[in-house]
Amino acid sequence: PHIPVICIDGPTASGKGTLASQVAQRLGYHYLDSGALYRITAFAARRAGLELDVAHEHAVAKLAQALAIRFDGTQVFLDGEDVSEAIRTEQAGMDASRVSALPAVRTALVALQQGFRRLPGLVADGRDMGTVIFPDAPLKVYLTASAAQRAERRHKQLISKGIPATIDVLRADLEARDARDSSRAVAPLKPAEDALLLDNSSQTIEQSVAQVLRWWDERQ
Ligand code: C5P
Repeated sequence: PHIPVICIDGPTASGKGTLASQVAQRLGYHYLDSGALYRITAFAARRAGLELDVAHEHAVAKLAQALAIRFDGTQVFLDGEDVSEAIRTEQAGMDASRVSALPAVRTALVALQQGFRRLPGLVADGRDMGTVIFPDAPLKVYLTASAAQRAERRHKQLISKGIPATIDVLRADLEARDARDSSRAVAPLKPAEDALLLDNSSQTIEQSVAQVLRWWDERQ
């Protein structure tokens, strides 16, 4: 049967996760946070004592293939252990960006991601949802915001959790991560040819959700 998918791709801290999960909730669809899979892979690799480099590409890919991951609301479990917090640090994001540049790791995660496409539908967020994982998706959104805005939002988020951070350092980190994600050979971060661009720099989350729902309605 034809199972609908909405893809929301874009750079670090653009608000993809919030937007995608709210759209999923509004439509009663499943939600895939594909970045979490790369974050967990990196976390599991480090724990296994593996370096996150090409020399260990196949070992890390093997590990990715066998991951026992369970999502439950906003929580993520690896082999039954709650890793939700551990995979959300800036370090975990950088580590995820490193493993995600290894082609064998990306290949190892393809089937797992496609398996989230179940009725009544899926909203998936990441970097390559529209270009690689669900190329036939009827709606692809490429979400952006200025680097300054993204750094500011990330800063607010961390401060509210009591985690010390400075805007300049965060901005440098997210620009470094975007540069790596955009320049890698396999599945680089770029809009799909048929993606609709949404710049949320001066939009509230409600406005962005409403925009995506309107686009979705137009496709029904
Ligand atoms: O979106 P999030 O910040 O959780 O993603 C962490 C990292 O995982 C990204 O910087 C990117 O390198 C990688 N990623 C990816 N493809 C995806 C989702 C995330 O390469 N579909």
